[in-house]
Amino acid sequence: MNAEMIKITEQFVKSILVDDRTGHDYFHIHRVRNLALHIGKIERSNLFIVEMAALLHDTIDDKIMDDPKGAIKHVTSFLHSNGVKSVDTQHIMDIITSLSFKGGNGVPMKSLEGRVVQDADRLDALGAIGIARAFTYGGIKGHVLYDPDIPLRESMTYEQYRYEQSTTINHFYEKLLRLSDKMNTEEGKKIAQQRHVFIEKYLLQFFEEWNGQL
Ligand code: ADP
Ligand code: NI
Repeated sequence: MNAEMIKITEQFVKSILVDDRTGHDYFHIHRVRNLALHIGKIERSNLFIVEMAALLHDTIDDKIMDDPKGAIKHVTSFLHSNGVKSVDTQHIMDIITSLSFKGGNGVPMKSLEGRVVQDADRLDALGAIGIARAFTYGGIKGHVLYDPDIPLRESMTYEQYRYEQSTTINHFYEKLLRLSDKMNTEEGKKIAQQRHVFIEKYLLQFFEEWNGQL
């Protein structure tokens, strides 16, 4: 039953995210699912909930979906109509509605499974993939690579995080380099640390080149 449900959910998610070009395509989902299962096993969490929430985590995101409220209803009824228990549906929906970073204004995760999936999603914003995703996102939104005259924001409202123009390099400082301190699990922290160091090295060389160092 669970294996079948996972298969059905994969198809459901693929059909929703098929056209996404903001770094939330199905390969992102695939990586997050694998990371979440890896961490979830170590944490002895409920792997069905972890896998389902990882698969569905971006299907209600307000920057991908035009109508997030409608999307929440759509995903909930998808789960119900495929026979997922109400308590599991509630748990999965709780996780995916609280997941997003939202400029640092998100709510803490209530369950272990939620903490596991949140760590997995954050890890995919770090390291080499995280750098690639940031520049892809910045390009699509028309942000400049970097501009020393645009100051870093110490904290942001949700609206500022989503809509104020900034630079992609600023995003590294405003979000990416803050993630490793926010990790929930020990395994998540360990992987984040290594990916964080990689981003720091990248920025070091970026600024050496920016400053004309040969
Ligand atoms: P969350 O849903 O956790 O708030 P996002 O969905 O906003 O996170 O981020 C998804 C991906 O897009 C991440 O890799 C993130 O770094 C990138 N991203 C989000 N906002 C920006 C931005 N302003 N500039 C560059 N990359 C961004
Ligand atoms: Ni995601």
